[in-house]
Amino acid sequence: DKPQKITVIVFGASGDLAKKKTYPALFGLYRNGFLPAGTQIVGYARTKMELDEFHKRITGFVKLPKDEQEAAHIQKQLDEFKRICHYQSGQYDQGADFDELNQRVRKLEMGIANANRVFYLALPPSQFINVAAQIRKHCYAEDGENRIIVEKPFGKDLDSSRELQAGLSALFREDEVYRIDHYLGKEMVKNLLILRFANVFFGAIWSRQYIENVQITFKEAIGTQGRGGYFDEFGIIRDVMQNHLLQILSIIGMERPVTLDSEDVRDEKVKLLRAIRPLETDDVVLGQYTASADGKEEGYLDDKTVPKGSKTPTYAAAAFWINNERWEGVPFILKCGKALNEQKTEIRIQFRDVPGSIFPGELARNELVVRVQPNEAVYMKMMNKMPGLSFDTTISELDLSYDQRYSDHKIPDAYESLILDCLRGDHSNFVRNDELDAAWKIFTPLLHKIDAGEVDSQDYEYGSRGPERAIEFVRNLGYIRHHQQYVWNDQKGK
Ligand code: BG6
Repeated sequence: DKPQKITVIVFGASGDLAKKKTYPALFGLYRNGFLPAGTQIVGYARTKMELDEFHKRITGFVKLPKDEQEAAHIQKQLDEFKRICHYQSGQYDQGADFDELNQRVRKLEMGIANANRVFYLALPPSQFINVAAQIRKHCYAEDGENRIIVEKPFGKDLDSSRELQAGLSALFREDEVYRIDHYLGKEMVKNLLILRFANVFFGAIWSRQYIENVQITFKEAIGTQGRGGYFDEFGIIRDVMQNHLLQILSIIGMERPVTLDSEDVRDEKVKLLRAIRPLETDDVVLGQYTASADGKEEGYLDDKTVPKGSKTPTYAAAAFWINNERWEGVPFILKCGKALNEQKTEIRIQFRDVPGSIFPGELARNELVVRVQPNEAVYMKMMNKMPGLSFDTTISELDLSYDQRYSDHKIPDAYESLILDCLRGDHSNFVRNDELDAAWKIFTPLLHKIDAGEVDSQDYEYGSRGPERAIEFVRNLGYIRHHQQYVWNDQKGK
């Protein structure tokens, strides 16, 4: 099911996103045979640059394997790939430059009447609408299909998001717009639909009747590292929670879609989001990191790109309450932070206590854990008999570790998967406008209070587990960390 002949036009082609994500993903698709024959890629940006220089830039982030033979093979493919990668410099506000771009694309289409065009906007939000307007006016394919890919941030609150939506929808139809949330392209996030709806045993226990609480955790072990300028304007809630983590929440919480069709899936997500109560001050704990205990890593406020005295949170934990039959009373706890003790994203579903236990001592609660990254895995914490002559219980697990079970499979980068979806015209893993609206409604009142400095924040050390208060917060929401030490061995096979 290869997509039809396509020209991909990358705006912001000399920028960070393009070189780190867009082009490596396009190359990944190219070398695995997922780009239709004849695909051409045109980079557009303001910087004047020789083609050679541009090629160096966009291929610098492609990782070559250690194996020499394999590396040589990929290098050869990379050289072929360069032949379909063109570059044109131009201004973002000059119609004549876009006309020129259009001529160039036409030439590359070689007279094929219904060639499709994908416009990838790897641009800061301040440029979105200007560029989209120029594209609409000068580069829109009259016969083929047009698709436009945009990246977050999609506004900063409900009003600004609506303004952006209005600007975009005046230019492109909703079915032409692909809003990327790259978490939707991650293997384990895509797996959630299958776990839930292709397994009768998960389906049966997926409700308030059996589930006590749900935690979705995103941890990074690095700070803002020079990205403080961008980050400070947004903060961790807008950067990660309102999009990536909320998307995961909506897939875990939604009802079964009527079919796998994109609109059916997105309808269910919107319904779920609309049932979430907007966040209040008591629903969150915020934090900002300070220098590490050994002084080696600087604190958030020491980052030169961060404005002095900034109160922007770099950590947030929040409890979401879903007002429907399935989830009433079950807290969905989303936690995210920079500069923590490790890098990890996981979903942890904790089940209720065994009622009327007949065993002496305490039983640990069952937990289903989906490890999104690193070391993808699905495991289920459960009670087991300690082997031997005793009848003691112990905590163990059913374990599906990908590096063991699927050692021959390469997990694609999220961007590869999403760009391929877009080439195929599949919207399922992109954010619809009403979904965005519903998401902003949950966060906007709280964000305004945070922006006005009305919500407390606690310091935490770089490299720690986050603010003390957050641990207590999660405990108060009913999450029990069992006293019997249990450590899932995620380093097997390493
Ligand atoms: C981005 C955020 O959307 O996601 C970054 O802007 C964050 O701050 C990144 O680091 C995390 O993505 P991943 O794929 O590395 O988990």
